[in-house]
Amino acid sequence: MTQSTVAAPAIGVFDSGFGGLTVLRALLAHLPRARFAFLGDTARLPYGSKSRRTIARYAVESAQFLVGEEGAEFLVIACNTASALALDAIQTAVPAIPVLGVIEPGADAAQAASQSGDVLVIATDATVQSHAYAAACRARGLRALEKACPLLVPLVEEGWTSHPVTEQVIRIYIDELLADARGASLNPDTLVLGCTHYPLLRTLIEAAVPPGMRVIDSAEAAAQAASRLIDGRAAAAPQPIFAASSAERIGLLPNPAPETCLRFFATDSVDKFQRLGSAFLGRPVPRVHLVDLGG
Ligand code: DGL
Repeated sequence: MTQSTVAAPAIGVFDSGFGGLTVLRALLAHLPRARFAFLGDTARLPYGSKSRRTIARYAVESAQFLVGEEGAEFLVIACNTASALALDAIQTAVPAIPVLGVIEPGADAAQAASQSGDVLVIATDATVQSHAYAAACRARGLRALEKACPLLVPLVEEGWTSHPVTEQVIRIYIDELLADARGASLNPDTLVLGCTHYPLLRTLIEAAVPPGMRVIDSAEAAAQAASRLIDGRAAAAPQPIFAASSAERIGLLPNPAPETCLRFFATDSVDKFQRLGSAFLGRPVPRVHLVDLGG
């Protein structure tokens, strides 16, 4: 694992809900000295059933909040749906800020895992309709079969991550996908969790897929990519590229206080975010600030 030792960049992490906390969890492991601001656009969730235009508007407003209000110097779009449909719009809105999505790292991880070259992808409706994963997989010489699983995000947001209803829903989706793969004469050996909410269902999903099938979570791959990018930029910069003081940058100062290292924002239901978010983050979620990004 690479760890950033020279820079303490301010990183903005964004998802429509708290699924993106699975990405933040991996980022914290890779970049322990970074300062993070996480925004969950819970008032407008789910993004996955909305149009490209609406998703782009919501995602741009969220990105502008993290950059404008929280001083983010680097953005991780911890949402497959926003990564698939709004990455260009976000980058255009904040041209000076490096923006990393989760689709390309997820496809890289699928390529590394698959021996047969055939992969399955489960994701939201909007992500599947964009065929962003199919394109990213094709560019890596993989064949991908994508399936929308629209019931899974609401079940996760409800906290039903090990509920019998969720187990049944997952079995139905996976069985349908495997039947489609047989119909298309594919020999899949890898399943990509193409939504940052799905890692919370990993146990149930692994129980539903055939033995030996690799299950890929793009959170870890995205955190590795972010870490490489940040370390690479810090090393290549002729002068400091992030706002942290030079003393902090070279490790002369202790890390900032936890509250300033890790700040959480949600556009609705802050209590629920704090209560259920800890399961995604793997540690208690401290105070969650309510923000209003409009309708
Ligand atoms: N977590 C988002 C993703 O990775 C989906 C949630 C939603 O539909 O808003 O696609």
